Amino acid sequence: MNPIIGRARAPSNIALIKYMGKKEGSANLPENSSISLTLNSLCTLAEVSRELDGPVEFQWTGEAPEFVTGDGPVLVPQLQDEAISKIQSHVRRTDREVPAILKHFGLESFPPGGRFILKSANTFPAASGIASSASAFAAITLATTLTIACDKELFSRAFKSEPKLRSLLAAISRQGSGSSCRSFDGPWVFWENEQAEKLESRLPELAHFVLLVSASEKSVSSSTAHHRVKSSPLWSGRVDRANARAQQLKTALASGDLNQVARLSWSECWEMHSLFHTAEPPFTYWQPQTIGALNWFSAFLNSPASAANPFPIVTLDAGPNLHCLVPLEAAADWEQRIRTAFPDTVLLCDRQGKGAEVIS
Ligand code: PMV
Repeated sequence: MNPIIGRARAPSNIALIKYMGKKEGSANLPENSSISLTLNSLCTLAEVSRELDGPVEFQWTGEAPEFVTGDGPVLVPQLQDEAISKIQSHVRRTDREVPAILKHFGLESFPPGGRFILKSANTFPAASGIASSASAFAAITLATTLTIACDKELFSRAFKSEPKLRSLLAAISRQGSGSSCRSFDGPWVFWENEQAEKLESRLPELAHFVLLVSASEKSVSSSTAHHRVKSSPLWSGRVDRANARAQQLKTALASGDLNQVARLSWSECWEMHSLFHTAEPPFTYWQPQTIGALNWFSAFLNSPASAANPFPIVTLDAGPNLHCLVPLEAAADWEQRIRTAFPDTVLLCDRQGKGAEVIS
């Protein structure tokens, strides 16, 4: 029997209200709600080839998938054994849990088991604060699901048209990597407990820039960070503050208030990094250039707000790289300003996107 091939593409997402701190012993359930913008071409491509009659086995080939999406050159991440076995468990979990979801939508599944071979690659450096695990787990969950559904065509149509199906697959993906559940929809996604779903927004379309201060592997993994932030004296009240800020952000998105979105993002970014800086033991992702960039952007955020010349939306993930969102129509101006201010730093340019997709 020929192998069944599943191909998917999933973008990364950048949180403005952060998922930081998970419920102990849970399958990546967040302490607080978070809100993110789904990106477009900063993404993972995944290809799963499955032999139903093969031995029960999983293999990560360390090669790029054999399909092209027009996203440009891709990088195959260097995965350690621990990461490979995490992905293997996730593929098995997906194989176990997806059939019940498909059944709910009237879709049939192949029997579980067999040999899964995975190829995946990113359009950006892994583990550099650009949430490679978010796009990777979303793409792997979707590509694996495509090898479980008997009728790929029917599944793809349902995936496009049923937000509930996307949200249920996102909940499986979340168990592999929390933030990946926000990469199934877009552009704006709200995640609370088990559920990640699209948010309505009246903001204009946004461009996304990453000032790539460093592309090397981060010294403190996000799993360690989720655990360690709870040792900070600032953890007390954090969950309520983040949830309140998420509600304020929802309101600002619904009314299209860019300046309020920028203010909330800026405060949230400083608060998450303050948790890192005051944890026991304290740690930081900042490098000298990160501080230089924060200072440079603070001049804009500290000047008077105007609707005609809105603040840039600025944030940092768990990494040294600075993310900036501006309306698409102002993107060329901002790109020039940033390149002039930081001539020696690589600038990645992207825009908002719609979430994970099936590649046929
Ligand atoms: O999904 P994880 O465990 O890699 O956590 C991601 C956490 C942050 O990127 C720092 C914040 C977020 O909400 O994406």
